[in-house]
Amino acid sequence: MRRRARRSSRPARRGGERARAAGVAEVITVAVPKGRLLEESSALFERAVGVSPKALLTGTRKLAADAPEAGLRFISIRAGDVASYVEHGAADIGIAGLDVLREEPRDLYEPIDLGIGRCEVIVARPRGAPPLPKGVAPRVATKYVTLAGQHFAAKSLPAEIIALHGSIEVAPSLGLADAIVDITETGETLRANGLVVEEKVLEVSARLIVNRVALKLHAERLRRLIAALRAAIQAGSGRTG
Ligand code: PRP
Repeated sequence: MRRRARRSSRPARRGGERARAAGVAEVITVAVPKGRLLEESSALFERAVGVSPKALLTGTRKLAADAPEAGLRFISIRAGDVASYVEHGAADIGIAGLDVLREEPRDLYEPIDLGIGRCEVIVARPRGAPPLPKGVAPRVATKYVTLAGQHFAAKSLPAEIIALHGSIEVAPSLGLADAIVDITETGETLRANGLVVEEKVLEVSARLIVNRVALKLHAERLRRLIAALRAAIQAGSGRTG
C-alpha cells in the first residue's frame, strides 16, 4: 500500500520537473558579439523577434539575459570568441564577422549573410613609403595571421608575419612592420596613423552561425528564427546601413 501511495504521488512531481527541464532545453542561446557589431545585431533581433539583446544586457555586469517571451537567452561574448561558443555548443547560434570565420575556419552552419558590420580586410602601408627593394620580404603586422599569410602566399611573395592583438596601425610608424593587414571600416584609424590602403584582402560582413547539433535538435525553432531574421534583413535593407 505504502509503495503504491508513494508511486501515485511522484509522477506529478516528476511531470513538473520534466516540464521545467523541457522549458530550459527549449531556450535557444544566442551569442551576441560585444563591440562594433552589438548595435546592428540588436537592431536586427529587435526587428525579427521584438527583443533587443543590447537593451537586455546594458547596465548590468551579467553576461547572460533571458527573453522568455521569445524563447531566447542572449549571452554577451567578445566578437572573436563567438564562433568558439557556437562551435562547441555553449551557444546554439551567434553572430560573427566573416574576417573571424575565415581567419579560423570552424565546423559551423552559416545560413545567412546578415549584411551588417560591413568592413574590409586590407593591406595598408605608410603614405608615400617607397616600394620595398626586390627580394626583401615585407614585415607585416596583423591579428589576421592566416589571412595575411594566405594573401602573400597567393602572390608568391614571402612575408614575415608579425602577430599582434590590437593597435596594429601604429606598428609601421614605430618600425615594427613595413605594412599591416587589418580591418578598416570608416578609414579613420588608417588616416589618423598615416596609412593608406594598398590592397583589398577580403570584403567582410557579419554572418549568422549555427551549431550543427542544435540545427537538428531545434530544427523547427531555428528554421523559424532564421526565417524571421531573413525577413528582418529584407525589411530593413537600407536602414541597417
Ligand atoms: C578595428 C581595426 C581598426 C579599426 C578600424 O579595431 O583593428 O583599428 O577598427 O576602424 P575604422 O576604419 O572605422 O577606423 P576595433 O575597433 O574593432 O578594435 P580591436 O583593435 O580591439 O579589434
